[in-house]
Amino acid sequence: MVMIGNQTPPQIDEPEIEIDVQNLDFYYGKHQALHDICISVPKGMVTALIGPSGCGKSTFLRTLNRMNDIIGGTRVEGKIVIQSQDIYAPNIDVVMLRKRVGMVFQKPNPFPKSIFENVAYGPRIHGIKNRAQLQEIVERSLVRAAIWDEVKDRLHISGLELSGGQQQRLCIARALAVDPDILLMDEPASALDPRSTQRIEDLIAELRGDYTIVIVTHNMQQAARVSDYTAFFYEGHLIEFDKTERIFTKPNSKQTEDYITGRFG
Ligand SMILES: Nc1ncnc2c1ncn2[C@@H]1O[C@H](COP(=O)(O)OP(=O)(O)OP(=O)(O)O)[C@@H](O)[C@H]1O
Ligand SMILES: [Mg+2]
Repeated sequence: MVMIGNQTPPQIDEPEIEIDVQNLDFYYGKHQALHDICISVPKGMVTALIGPSGCGKSTFLRTLNRMNDIIGGTRVEGKIVIQSQDIYAPNIDVVMLRKRVGMVFQKPNPFPKSIFENVAYGPRIHGIKNRAQLQEIVERSLVRAAIWDEVKDRLHISGLELSGGQQQRLCIARALAVDPDILLMDEPASALDPRSTQRIEDLIAELRGDYTIVIVTHNMQQAARVSDYTAFFYEGHLIEFDKTERIFTKPNSKQTEDYITGRFG
């Protein structure tokens, strides 16, 4: 490359970073589940985490909003910086962290409460008491999660009366209600039928841009369809992280290639 003076070439392709993980190790007691993970998760994009069962995807996802804190005997080393804040620093308010970094689990887990109360729960915890304001947040979140039309006439029924796919969208609405910046999803569609899965994938596409989304999936086609970037984990190590297109067409590592072509896992 011809360099003129000492100018560095413009980096038009560099995305803004939302989550910067530096040399992260994670232990369950003596068992080290994550080894020296370094990854920069781009803002407003969808990042998929893939890899065989037990490779540490869920563990890694939970380190991003300190969900692992509630598991006894665990230990974290290294650093996770979200919006220039070290989230493991002693002064971090974990409740506020989880407001910014919401989570959706594999099995839909609505509270045994009404649809309305499921979504109003988070905003209430964060001090919103005004009924009209809560109603507005509930409607907006249910619209955002693409379930409003199905439930708007029965907000008082229990969330548990909904179908699995509807329950999962309700859980997404609940996560959105506190206005997070980041959404973590751990196999959010793996317990759902194909049609409900399709709706969740459509929803992820709609939320992309407004939220930084990190999604664990076992489904290679799903990772390829929904994500911009893909991280391949193997035995607690991050083997490769790149644009999804590149991972699925021209991976650098033989292990990644073997996994995505179905040779193991
Ligand atoms: N609560 C826990 N206590 C002790 N060890 C755990 C715990 N959760 C996970 N592990 C161990 O940590 C490693 C990573 O597990 P993790 O659940 O993160 O994998 P995963 O990639 O999400 O797997 P899967 O695809 O099956 O969900 C495994 O060896 C697992 O046995
Ligand atoms: Mg898991």
